[in-house]
Amino acid sequence: MKHELPIVHALQRHLDRTPISWHVPGHKNGTLTPLPDFFKWDVTELPGLDDFHHPEEAIADAIALLRKVYDAKASHFLVNGSTVGNWAMLAAIATRGERVYVQRNSHKSVFNALEWLGIEPIFLEPDIHEETGISGHVSRETLKEAFTKYPGGVGVFITSPTYYGEAADIMSLVQLTASHELPLLVDEAHGAHFGEAFGVRSAFELGATAVVQSAHKTLPALTMGAWMHERFSEKTRRKLQRALQAFQTSSPSYLLLASLDYARSYREQWTVKGMSDIQASHDAFIEALQRFDHMTVLRFDDWSRMTLTYEGYSGDALLHALRAVQLDAEFALGDHVVCILPLRPLAKSEQNDWVHRVERAIQMMKSEGIPLKRYIEQPIMGKIQVSALSCSYEQLEQATGTFRQLDECIGHVSLETIIPYPPGIPLIVRGERITAEQVLRLRHYQTVAVHLQGGEQLQRGALRVIEEGFEE
Ligand SMILES: Cc1ncc(COP(=O)(O)O)c(C=O)c1O
Repeated sequence: MKHELPIVHALQRHLDRTPISWHVPGHKNGTLTPLPDFFKWDVTELPGLDDFHHPEEAIADAIALLRKVYDAKASHFLVNGSTVGNWAMLAAIATRGERVYVQRNSHKSVFNALEWLGIEPIFLEPDIHEETGISGHVSRETLKEAFTKYPGGVGVFITSPTYYGEAADIMSLVQLTASHELPLLVDEAHGAHFGEAFGVRSAFELGATAVVQSAHKTLPALTMGAWMHERFSEKTRRKLQRALQAFQTSSPSYLLLASLDYARSYREQWTVKGMSDIQASHDAFIEALQRFDHMTVLRFDDWSRMTLTYEGYSGDALLHALRAVQLDAEFALGDHVVCILPLRPLAKSEQNDWVHRVERAIQMMKSEGIPLKRYIEQPIMGKIQVSALSCSYEQLEQATGTFRQLDECIGHVSLETIIPYPPGIPLIVRGERITAEQVLRLRHYQTVAVHLQGGEQLQRGALRVIEEGFEE
């Protein structure tokens, strides 16, 4: 197959001229740095290199190829990750004060976008897998309930796949949203590799109105490299484009764009047969891991992702033990560790090496080389499937609030968002009434030293909540 890489080739043509820089960026083709080879690809929008916000040449050609791979009516490169894609999708479909149905365990970028864009969220709790306590997806029933209890929304926003690699039942959600003439937006940050060859269909193929995919998460693209595919109306697309131009830099990184070009080409070359061979090598590796006593390996739809648990030990302890043998996993939460494996064949020798490393990690963890943190059973949250914020963004803006000890916060409206990171899903959202389950879980995270973002005085066991008398 011919490898078409329009952006990469435009850059190569540019560099072949051995140009002298009398323009930005300040590193002057890397000559002011000890890393000229690294920097020289970092150029600006010079003649022959097209214009990111008004593409007509190499970038337009690269987008056309991207559209073809994902069979999309329109695609857009994103140079600030899925983060900016989530912002732009929401800005495209809703204006200030309008209501959108949003999966409660969305990424923090979604909550930021909702607040700054002034969009009223109606939260949809995902179902929870009872045995593991791991979050699944928003059910059709939950969405129906939201439509009935809180009518008048202008769109639905969900995340699929989950961090654990489970895909939602997109078809049934597409049917339901279409019957209400609402767009279905999907944060598919972890599913840029989905498609026929991989064996799991992308939400876009299944009819979602717009999806964002972090190419950098699972394909060979530089960090921050992402893209969006959409089938909006012309009018909505114009608004989307205005949002993308407003939210994204006017100086896009060509290193990043070139890597997106490459990631698309990498993905384009997959065949059903080639991928099933890759999957077979992954299966063989997982099987070997499953032979360890007390080890459980969970896999959902995405076979390149695995969730490991080791009985009696916290995910954190396992994550650290794996790190000690140079196996760097994605994140740990509760009793498990999530790992994202490479999308290429795993050679037998590599599989054996990895299995031995895991064995060493387990031995180390057991011999207390690494602090042992017993896993505490977590409470199941999310009894209420559909909910709204307890006060408006205007009220939140005006409130000064007061710090209260965690136990005294129960029943009060939080002025802070608390985010275990990774994975970056808020445990408590600004404007939400704090529940006993949330406090319990927060304490648990503190006990097992989960890294938490937000919470000015959380170290001292306090949260900022709205003062009495100000609420509702
Ligand atoms: C589900 C989900 N959505 C969005 C994002 C943001 O993606 P990016 O890092 O590409 O901005 C992340 C990042 O972790 C994510 O996990």
